[in-house]
Amino acid sequence: MKVFEPIEIKGMKLKNRIGFPSFLNQPAADEGYVSDVTVRWFEERAKGGAALIMTGAVTGSPVDEQLAASFNMNNIRLYDDKFIPGFKKIADAVHSHGAKLGVQITGLGGPLSGRAPSPEPFPDEEHATETLLYLTAGFRMPITEISVEEIEQAERDIAAAAARAKAAGADCVELHCAHGGATFHCSFISPYYNRRTDKYGGDWEGRLRLPVETIMKIREAVGEDYPILARIDSDQLLGERGITLEDTVKFVVPALEKAGVDCFDVTQGDVLRSTEGILIPLYYPRGCFMHLTAEVKKATKLPVIGVGRILDLDMAERFLQEGKADIIFMGRQLTSDPETPKKYSEGRPEDIRKCIGCLVGCGRPCPINYDMQDAPIALTPAEKPKKVLVLGGGAAGMEAARIAALRGHKVTLMEKEAELGGLVATLALNPLVAEFRNVVDYLTTQMKKLKVDIRLRKEATLADVEELKPDVVILATGSTATIPEVAEGKPGVMTHSEALKRKKEVGKKVAVWGLFGCELAIALAEEGKDVVLLGRSGEGSLATDLSAGRRWYLLRRLTDVNVPRVAPEAMRLSNLEVLYNVKVEDITAEGIKVVATVDNVETKRVIPYDTLILSRRFGERQANDSLFDELQGKVAEVHKIGDCLQVRSIQDAVWTANEVARKI
Ligand SMILES: Cc1cc2nc3c(=O)[nH]c(=O)nc-3n(C[C@H](O)[C@H](O)[C@H](O)COP(=O)(O)O)c2cc1C
Repeated sequence: MKVFEPIEIKGMKLKNRIGFPSFLNQPAADEGYVSDVTVRWFEERAKGGAALIMTGAVTGSPVDEQLAASFNMNNIRLYDDKFIPGFKKIADAVHSHGAKLGVQITGLGGPLSGRAPSPEPFPDEEHATETLLYLTAGFRMPITEISVEEIEQAERDIAAAAARAKAAGADCVELHCAHGGATFHCSFISPYYNRRTDKYGGDWEGRLRLPVETIMKIREAVGEDYPILARIDSDQLLGERGITLEDTVKFVVPALEKAGVDCFDVTQGDVLRSTEGILIPLYYPRGCFMHLTAEVKKATKLPVIGVGRILDLDMAERFLQEGKADIIFMGRQLTSDPETPKKYSEGRPEDIRKCIGCLVGCGRPCPINYDMQDAPIALTPAEKPKKVLVLGGGAAGMEAARIAALRGHKVTLMEKEAELGGLVATLALNPLVAEFRNVVDYLTTQMKKLKVDIRLRKEATLADVEELKPDVVILATGSTATIPEVAEGKPGVMTHSEALKRKKEVGKKVAVWGLFGCELAIALAEEGKDVVLLGRSGEGSLATDLSAGRRWYLLRRLTDVNVPRVAPEAMRLSNLEVLYNVKVEDITAEGIKVVATVDNVETKRVIPYDTLILSRRFGERQANDSLFDELQGKVAEVHKIGDCLQVRSIQDAVWTANEVARKI
């Protein structure tokens, strides 16, 4: 297979075509030193079989580090020789597994951290607040212009950091020239941010001067034989005002190649204004940006790296076979399962825990990979094998059963439904979040492989438990949606889960009651239904409990927030209306009688409906934990996990399962 063929970048021999891209959130000790946890973080990925592991973006200057610290980012740093021994430890750990280490370098922030080639507003006053920061935090960053002296200093600092990376044993460096307003170099390349009239602005030659000069300075610092990669935006995803694919192919690639770059790591987007290119949520298809990489590949003979929601090696192999890239980076997938390449090469792809694209933590932590955190409880063989009974076959129950079985306990799992998966499997019936299914599929397969005694359609009673005589009972019986009094017994009322399980019964005119249902509302509107999403009093704004990348997408589908791009109107759904701060007063044959309060002004409406879907937040579901009290004194150990302990997220389901099952 091509994916396991070696490849060289300027003499750096990679054992296969899989790598881990730059992730900023690797752990660090105080002041940016490398800790044992940092080393383990990198080593896990190398041990899992990837050939090239990149560090998150480091800068060459203590000034930049102060900026980073003001964002509460404590990343590993490289602005001084004192950091070299720490990087050496990372390099040794990565090398001990036959992998190579690359250090990504950036400088002086970019508009994201208040420094830019030109002063704000970007691109103009009318659209200046259409940024992720503003939408999620209501914050407009004051931005000052970078001076020529600062530019020249930054170039020297970056070259010095590259020399330090080499001295520490890193195998290559990468200049971060991507992600729009996130980085110094991309904001200079981009016409969206760079309106300078000096030699660092003006035309393409001027805007590319900074990256070109920086690469040449890095080359002087690291020598002729050392590989230099450039991470570039194939497309800033901001239409004509930003860097377009055409610009990249025509100007960026040739200029950087001439300056001495040895490989292009191709990404896309702008952290502030087209976040979807970087923090790609689960709503986008896997591998969705590879067509852009393919165009860059056509424009150069240098090796090209492709990235972006690639979860499986079959897809990676296809992209390589099709000549769209030479190397594939997998970021979040090697976080949810660092052993992805190893398991695949050993012929057990079914053991790979596929990323669900939720964008929570992405390495610190990962909601579905309990081990991906700073201090997990170790997974050790059980001191004494016990008879463990797990009640409930959702994500929490199956994860507990998996861990207990792996440790050598004898595990039985009872599930009242005909299938495993619980609430997560139900939520995954929504096509928008179908990736949730990955965690269910993985765990279901593991149940079989670990020979967990599964008993379906079995709602356990006290008598069942007494008959089995387990040493330990783990209650993972989930939660049930509560129905508000005003909706009880009314026609067309369904819970969120019922609407997903009995889709055919959902009518043409739909009201989704509760902002928790925003993803379901979008899916129904996409099917052509007329949807009203009713936010309840006190519920606040849309999707505040979701990661910024997901929220960015949802706001653009559901509200008038539009970013100046090629086709802004394509994002907003015209058949979906959102009402905030709604109180439902009555439900009659006429419709749902509501009062919506905006800026202290009350508006009364009657919303005709065929189906009213109750999308209650976690706190409004009731834990199914009645057996817990009944079992006290009858079984030596009884534990509650998942929704049954406290109704929350997938992460809580998986983590509470581990916290219990690693200790019994
Ligand atoms: C938590 C997080 C941190 C990231 N930090 C960086 C970074 O420092 N530099 C960079 O170029 N890209 C960064 N990225 C983007 C990733 O390198 C990668 O392009 C992106 O995650 C898409 O790949 P994936 O779908 O395989 O995860 C980051 C992404 C995430 C989720």
